[in-house]
Amino acid sequence: PAENPDYDLTQPLATGTGLRSGLTSYGDAHFSLFLRKVFIKALGYSESALNRPIIGIINTYSALNPCHANVPQLIEAVKRGVQLSGGLAVEFPTISLHESFSSPTSMFLRNLMSMDTEEMIKAQPLDAVVMIGGCDKTVPAQLMGGISANKPVLPLVTGPMMPGSYRGQRLGACTDCRNNWAAFRAGTLDVEDIGNLNEELAPTAGTCGVMGTASTMACVTTALGFMPLRGASAPAVSSARLRIAEETGTNAVSVAAAKRTPQEMLSKESFLNAITVLQAIGGSTNAVVHLMAIINRHPRLAGEITLKTFDEIGRKTPLLIDLKPSGDNYMTDFHNAGGMLGLLHTLEPLLHLEAMTITGQTLGEVLDANPFRTFPFSSQIIRPLTNPLYPASSLVVLSGNLAPNGCVTKASASKDRRLLSHSGPAVVFKNSADLALRIDDPNLAVTKDSVLVLQGIGPIGNPGMPEAGMIPIPRKLSAQGVSDMLRISDGRMSGTAGGTIVLHVSPESAIPESVLGIVRDGDWIVCDVEKRELRLEVSDEEIAQRIVERKAKLEKDGDGVWKQRKARRGYRGLYERCVNQAQEGADFDFLTAVGPGEA
Ligand code: FES
Ligand code: MG
Repeated sequence: PAENPDYDLTQPLATGTGLRSGLTSYGDAHFSLFLRKVFIKALGYSESALNRPIIGIINTYSALNPCHANVPQLIEAVKRGVQLSGGLAVEFPTISLHESFSSPTSMFLRNLMSMDTEEMIKAQPLDAVVMIGGCDKTVPAQLMGGISANKPVLPLVTGPMMPGSYRGQRLGACTDCRNNWAAFRAGTLDVEDIGNLNEELAPTAGTCGVMGTASTMACVTTALGFMPLRGASAPAVSSARLRIAEETGTNAVSVAAAKRTPQEMLSKESFLNAITVLQAIGGSTNAVVHLMAIINRHPRLAGEITLKTFDEIGRKTPLLIDLKPSGDNYMTDFHNAGGMLGLLHTLEPLLHLEAMTITGQTLGEVLDANPFRTFPFSSQIIRPLTNPLYPASSLVVLSGNLAPNGCVTKASASKDRRLLSHSGPAVVFKNSADLALRIDDPNLAVTKDSVLVLQGIGPIGNPGMPEAGMIPIPRKLSAQGVSDMLRISDGRMSGTAGGTIVLHVSPESAIPESVLGIVRDGDWIVCDVEKRELRLEVSDEEIAQRIVERKAKLEKDGDGVWKQRKARRGYRGLYERCVNQAQEGADFDFLTAVGPGEA
């Protein structure tokens, strides 16, 4: 210690990395470092260990999160990679979100997790951070927080679960949860079967095994250049997953040395690639909201990409991946067929190969270094450009007077394609409770040509934009064999669901000026996916008049819902005051790079 430069008070301290970053907390830089070392040494570290790049590992294990059940093993493997490469690995916790155990919705808590992630990365003396996530909202939250914190970050997903099997039939959460439950309600599956199936739908640790939101975000994160090519699809319980974790630890040490931050690595082209992949995999509509939130965290790119960009890319991009819910197979099949390595090679003519990746190579260099030859099985799961599953535009953006700021539909998941061009009278439900009360009422005035409209499930409305957009078919119609109808809402839909469903209508109905908010029973609605149009056949004057009346009523009520919302306490109060609309990412206005100022 006598020769330790840290104690030479005549010399200024080198700052900026590891324990030496942000040294001013105690006024005197030398004392500040001295104190930090006092406390970190309580954990048993030596001077030698502390003089290495310090790599944080975000631990999102929770006993209520089966999608993250393998996190402890992944941490061990990341640590091995870090320490074999000369770094010091330190893990720390952030909150963990599971879809089924996050009331009112996991989306409501996504922004909270992003704040936790951002602030803990910023606060602690770390040179780079491996962010372990997986379940639907966790990867978006970590990307949002990591980009805002702008220290070197390396996402690592937990990986998909294995498919289950029941009486010779493969099963996977959660597309098959929905199918089988519908069969049970229809009486084609008995109570013993449904009970047995319940044990098999999620048979291992890991994220949902179809192309739901978690798998979509894993593929998108790889396309952004953040993860090794096989990192999106290696099963959670596989040894391949552990090797990817080790590789991520190794990469973290060199990314720390290069100080490669996410804001520096990401370009507009990285996001164009991610959106191309989103369209080609028939990804979840939720990814549109998440990607907008992620893009708008980037000071250079915020505003450069809009919903229109998703639509323009969709027109050029065929759906190539044959996975549920758009196709038939599971994530393990995608992995065995070559995963993102195979897909990115197939998509090469549509990609920006000059985009940078986390290791400092361009995407083109990464693909050149990792060749891929198709084989019969791979071309069934990852179709060639010449034989797509769906020709183009699996995700479509619509607008019109009913959705002036846009809305989204997953055309590839429509069950009755005729509905992609349809007009009919509205049957309006004010909120989820109203829907539950009346949808199966035998006296409900509804036909198969009606347009089901659900209000009140937008970002503010519920709050947290629940996945309630897949409005059930009224029972009296499903009994007649109607399996799809045109359905419109300001909410979201699970990435594992399907139907002709228009989502994310903006502005949402909770906003006094919303056109969705003034739709009435019997109003004529026109949806034309080919023309990208969603229209309410009511005159501009009548719409304006209804909005004036609605606002006057809110005013008169004095304590209208709107005002109550603005006054609520706690995180819910913050959420309802600050959440922006779906086309902006449903982020908090003060967290975006275009919001009110940098912290
Ligand atoms: Fe976690 Fe589906 S519930 S990924
Ligand atoms: Mg989901």
